[in-house]
Amino acid sequence: MFKNLKILDEKDKRLKMISKDVIFPLSKEDKQIIKDTMQYLKYSQIEKYAKKYNLRAGWGMSAIQIGIAKRWFVIVEEQDDGSFKNYFFANPKIISNSTEKIYVEQGEGCLSVNREVKGIVPRYARITIEAYDIDGKKFTMRLREDLSVCVQHEIDHLNGILFVDRIDKKNPYKDMDLYRAI
Ligand code: NI
Repeated sequence: MFKNLKILDEKDKRLKMISKDVIFPLSKEDKQIIKDTMQYLKYSQIEKYAKKYNLRAGWGMSAIQIGIAKRWFVIVEEQDDGSFKNYFFANPKIISNSTEKIYVEQGEGCLSVNREVKGIVPRYARITIEAYDIDGKKFTMRLREDLSVCVQHEIDHLNGILFVDRIDKKNPYKDMDLYRAI
């Protein structure tokens, strides 16, 4: 069954909170919320369901965006064959990063920011992170390009930072020549 989630808007102060580490094992309820979040993101990317439930398309969501101040987030990425790949990360840490930086040319989006935002957000082109899976098992993962951007965007959420906070107010396209557009 599809559960429509109430996503906090950028005006909500809870989005400024620093989320707390996830403690394992996760409860049944926690696991259900994670499943619901993955399904929400998947449906948001399928036109038929997006229309039916009035969802804006997104592929990443942090717990704090649904009011849970815990350090986890999910990413649901459509694959070339039309299937969807689910990622879950808890207590993530960036352990290394490229010097090269990139930015999303058409601008980053966020399910908590319901307006057009002009400007660029420089992000590392490649990162290696350490995180825990849904069973509390530690893993490392190397990420590049849009997945790298997405993970950095979500880690920001865990630290109370929105992508709009990273855009220079006076010059939203500041130093764009120094970075590669994706
Ligand atoms: Ni976001």
